[in-house]
Amino acid sequence: MKVKHFIVMIAFAIIEINLTESYENDRIRLKSEKTHYLPYVNVCDVQDRSSKVHCYCENPRYQSAKKADCWVFNGGIDEGDPFWSNFHSQPKLEKLTFNVRTDGGLSDIPSKVIVRLDHLQYLNIRYGQISCIPSFAFTNSTTLKEIILYKDKITELEKMAFANLIMLVNISLSDNQITEIEKDVFYFLPNLQRLNLARNTLEVLHDGCFKHLSNLIKLDLNNNLLTVVIRENFQGLANLITLNMGNNKLSMIGDLAFAELWSLQELYLENNEIKFISERGFGGLTQLRKLFLAGNKLETLDNGVFDDIQKLNVLDLRNNKLETLKQETLRSVADNMKSNYALIFLENNKLICDCRLSWLYKLRDETQSKKIRESLTQLECILDDALKNNLAYIKLQRNKTGQTSSKTTKMYDKEELGDYDVSQDRVIELDPTTGEFRKRLLNIPKNILPCPNHEYAPTQDEVKYYKTSGSGHNVTTWLTSMYILINLVRGWYSERF
Ligand SMILES: *[C@@H]1O[C@H](CO)[C@@H](O)[C@H](O)[C@H]1NC(C)=O
Ligand SMILES: *[C@@H]1O[C@H](CO)[C@@H](O)[C@H](O)[C@H]1NC(C)=O
Ligand SMILES: *[C@@H]1O[C@H](CO)[C@@H](O)[C@H](O)[C@H]1NC(C)=O
Ligand SMILES: *[C@@H]1O[C@H](CO)[C@@H](O)[C@H](O)[C@H]1NC(C)=O
Repeated sequence: MKVKHFIVMIAFAIIEINLTESYENDRIRLKSEKTHYLPYVNVCDVQDRSSKVHCYCENPRYQSAKKADCWVFNGGIDEGDPFWSNFHSQPKLEKLTFNVRTDGGLSDIPSKVIVRLDHLQYLNIRYGQISCIPSFAFTNSTTLKEIILYKDKITELEKMAFANLIMLVNISLSDNQITEIEKDVFYFLPNLQRLNLARNTLEVLHDGCFKHLSNLIKLDLNNNLLTVVIRENFQGLANLITLNMGNNKLSMIGDLAFAELWSLQELYLENNEIKFISERGFGGLTQLRKLFLAGNKLETLDNGVFDDIQKLNVLDLRNNKLETLKQETLRSVADNMKSNYALIFLENNKLICDCRLSWLYKLRDETQSKKIRESLTQLECILDDALKNNLAYIKLQRNKTGQTSSKTTKMYDKEELGDYDVSQDRVIELDPTTGEFRKRLLNIPKNILPCPNHEYAPTQDEVKYYKTSGSGHNVTTWLTSMYILINLVRGWYSERF
């Protein structure tokens, strides 16, 4: 009995000693932790209500947070503020966001924080008032992958503003007020893939300003004030795939403007003021697949303008002033347009209903692309008076045919009129602002489209068509045909003499 007791006592004693020891160890550890971090407030757990920065972290314990969303208020914080050193309390941060809630609350890139955070990969600053990004603002960080500076009222980027950031993949500077990009602003960023400069006030891109960005894939210059585009703008961008220059003030595309962009596949130039594209304007774009030119002021396109872009299969020319689109202009890409994913948009131009567009009938029949067929079906063109009258006349005749009047069937047989369907054909729209009559091109029988040749002469079909006297029993019909004949002769006459 006694021996047993003794053993139990010894056992308890050992356990107690062990416990005391481990408490003591914990105390020492906690103490050392406290003394080590004592000068720093845990930025994820700021108790002081008057603090200028409050951060919300996923895991707010000391040294544990990987992600912090910080709000800047209470008058804001400047570069020299001692608060910045508190970021020592969270050295493992990978994602750091500053939402500035005070006007002018943050007027510098917090370089002192960045330099301290050895794991920082994502930096996002919103609604600051930073105005200028100085050289090496991101302290040559070897961990940063993405920098987003959104609506920070940035107007100036100093040389080397973004430099020596070997892991950096994305930069977004959208929605600022940057007016120019100097040379060497972006320097030694060997992994940079995306650069977003959309919605700034860029007017000048200095020659070679992107030349160190040889791995850039996407450059977004949408919504700026650029008036010219030249080859020198894009030196070095040999791997660029997407270039967005939509919503700028470009008025022309000169020779070889994009020739540095050997890999470019998508080019957005919509909503500029482009009136002229040089015949070699897209020279060198051998990989280009998508070209967006909607919302410009194009009236004509040179025949050779798409000759270099042999892979093009998406072409948007809506909302321009094109009078026609000749088959020769698209000669090098016509086959691409027959593929499944091809797109061509021509709506809202000044296309004239004439035989220069007759290749579109063929395209409609041959393309695999449902979207092209739909778009072509909707496509409207402008009718001249003669064609308008011709159409009215055919309608009359077809109506009669429908009533099986054998005398008139000779005038236009089914083959000549194709699938022209009178019952579907009510739409001749009068545009009240221009006084133009518009009609869906593909609803007009191809064979009656006039040709605007100088050597104008009626085609066989037209000759046949105008020989209408056989149906002279009906006065209205007769008068209509006379009217057309007179118009024809008049047109013919004025072309000749
Ligand atoms: C970054 O690197 C450059 C060039 O090596 C050096 O001049 C600069 O002082 C460095 N900046 C910082 C903040 O480390
Ligand atoms: C870069 O941006 C793209 C597109 O926004 C995104 O999909 C990608 O994950 C980003 N990469 C990094 C490393 O942040
Ligand atoms: C075609 O004929 C029908 C009667 O068969 C008539 O109601 C219609 O107005 C005619 N249309 C034209 C354009 O003459
Ligand atoms: C001639 O044809 C038109 C249209 O079919 C019709 O409206 C008109 O009444 C006809 N005139 C005569 C005299 O038959």
